[in-house]
Amino acid sequence: MIELRNICKSFNGHKVLDDLNLKIETGESMVIIGRSGCGKSVTLKHIIGIMEPDAGSVLVDNINVTKLNGQDLKKFRMNFGMLFQGGALFDSLSVLENVGFQLFEYSDLSLGEIRKRVAECLAMVGLSGIENAKPAELSGGMKKRVALARAICMSPEIILFDEPTTGIDPIMGDVINDLIRRLHDTLKTTSITVTHDMKSAYKIADKIAMLYNKKIIAVGTPDEIKNSDNPVIRQFVTGSAVGPITGY
Ligand SMILES: Nc1ncnc2c1ncn2[C@@H]1O[C@H](COP(=O)(O)OP(=O)(O)OP(=O)(O)O)[C@@H](O)[C@H]1O
Ligand SMILES: [Mg+2]
Repeated sequence: MIELRNICKSFNGHKVLDDLNLKIETGESMVIIGRSGCGKSVTLKHIIGIMEPDAGSVLVDNINVTKLNGQDLKKFRMNFGMLFQGGALFDSLSVLENVGFQLFEYSDLSLGEIRKRVAECLAMVGLSGIENAKPAELSGGMKKRVALARAICMSPEIILFDEPTTGIDPIMGDVINDLIRRLHDTLKTTSITVTHDMKSAYKIADKIAMLYNKKIIAVGTPDEIKNSDNPVIRQFVTGSAVGPITGY
């Protein structure tokens, strides 16, 4: 189980998270929704220990992530796959080297075995045969899918997806949603997905959590969130300009 307890985080005196609490059960697909700039990516980065909270703690299977460092933190991160919002591919490396990065670094698989695994992952995101390309040769959506292939390549127990379908056409977006759901159903991964695409959220989620005003203000099943009578949630999920959330 993943537990964020009383997390506070500020940047340059500007508070982004204030006493945020969230629990994610093992094997659950949690989707975090919220407006642009509200702290969704920051929240994900706390879970894998890329960011440290000013106060509060992050527990993953009762390990306090905030207390880990050096080799322990490195080992801990091996349980995770993460799709970064911007992709975060290595520009000088080929697609093969990017997707197989952790396998090259940390496994003793042969080149042939790594090639096979990378080919499987690229096939899953609909990009077979682009192993030799460099990121600069790819479209934005292709980069995102390569980053997605990298996130799943080690068959991690926990996968964090930051905006997996943003910048991708709706048909491929749906393929990605299905892939996330399938990974979750067949491999029993715990997944945490950040999105503001409600269609994706309803499709992927066991539970949806809404981040608003520096906190998680509600957690519920897709149906509960869809039918919530909280005006903030209702406004967000219907994408209305009218409501308690102001436009700016
Ligand atoms: N490393 C950082 N240094 C300073 N400020 C940061 C840093 N990372 C995030 N922030 C600030 O924290 C706030 C939340 O950022 P975050 O990236 O989590 O938003 P988000 O909810 O993911 O938004 P979006 O939907 O646009 O991706 C923003 O005001 C951002 O400027
Ligand atoms: Mg973000």
